[in-house]
Amino acid sequence: MDLSVKYMGLDLKSPIIVGSSGLTNSVEKVKELESFGAGAVVLKSLFEEQIHFEADAAGKQNDYDYPEAIDYIKSYAKDNTINAYLKLIEDCKKETKIPIIASLNCVTTGQWLEFAKKMENAGADAIELNVSLLPSDSEKTSAENEKVYFTIAEQVKKVVKIPVALKMSHYSAGLLNLIKTLSWTKNVDAFVLFNRYYNPDIDINTMKITSSGVFSTEGDLAASLRWVAILSNQIETPISATTGVHSGEDVIKQLLAGAQTVQVVSAIYKHGSSFVKTMLDDVQEWMKKQNKKSIEDFRGLVSYKNVHNAVAFERVQFMKYFGGIE
Ligand SMILES: Cc1cc2nc3c(=O)[nH]c(=O)nc-3n(C[C@H](O)[C@H](O)[C@H](O)COP(=O)(O)O)c2cc1C
Repeated sequence: MDLSVKYMGLDLKSPIIVGSSGLTNSVEKVKELESFGAGAVVLKSLFEEQIHFEADAAGKQNDYDYPEAIDYIKSYAKDNTINAYLKLIEDCKKETKIPIIASLNCVTTGQWLEFAKKMENAGADAIELNVSLLPSDSEKTSAENEKVYFTIAEQVKKVVKIPVALKMSHYSAGLLNLIKTLSWTKNVDAFVLFNRYYNPDIDINTMKITSSGVFSTEGDLAASLRWVAILSNQIETPISATTGVHSGEDVIKQLLAGAQTVQVVSAIYKHGSSFVKTMLDDVQEWMKKQNKKSIEDFRGLVSYKNVHNAVAFERVQFMKYFGGIE
């Protein structure tokens, strides 16, 4: 059974990528994930805010006689954060054979561009850009919000030669049009659909805002499954499906919908690194039963264009299905 796939021109021995998180923040963890069959890893993100924050915090720690000293300390802290990240890339490249995807979490456009170049020089096989878009600014139109995707992807593609993936939010009133238009720019080599945000909750006893669960659940798969199925025949750019993948069955569903790869995080936090192998074993067993010899034998078979009742992917009203439930 051949589980290998191509993703952004990279050769992966399996379609399961371990997504950006604390699971991929050390070379030891990456080696373990490789040993259980991960096709690639996305390293934990280097956060634009983290770099600024650490530099600012270092500058505030002491009173210095000379303003130059503060600048020096700030740039030292910044370089330290970046250097630790670059070393992680270098070590992973030295000690593993799987593609290493560096991750950059950018809020604004600009200064962090130099990091993208440094990541490439450190040996990263690709860069995943996590662009956190929350359309909560009442002064901004949809087009203004979404422009950030275009600008960031264009800027990064100008400075690096390695493939660039864009991890996006599902917030958009014209998601299909947005992703199609982005794919035409050729500045995005893969779409990672979708990012999972930190979500707020309210504690009714303290009446304070808290954080809701960090980890996804099985039920979270549906949102990305719908869009992967709708998009996969409409764009040539590969798709990596993420959020809510909790079993081998979920991996198969996303591949049937047309994803090239699938990213998993919460399920591995829950079950440990060996769960990559468990999921791959389940995929293989299913392939055997279905007489599928490779991933390409079944990828996209249940995408929007390939099924008769494709309209089910677009259904948003419950009336027909749940009308009888009292
Ligand atoms: C503890 C934790 C840390 C994460 N850190 C990052 C990160 O640094 N960068 C990033 O792009 N996504 C990060 N994510 C999001 C995951 O990469 C992933 O998109 C999300 O968890 C949805 O996938 P899942 O349903 O398999 O968990 C993190 C998720 C978790 C649970």
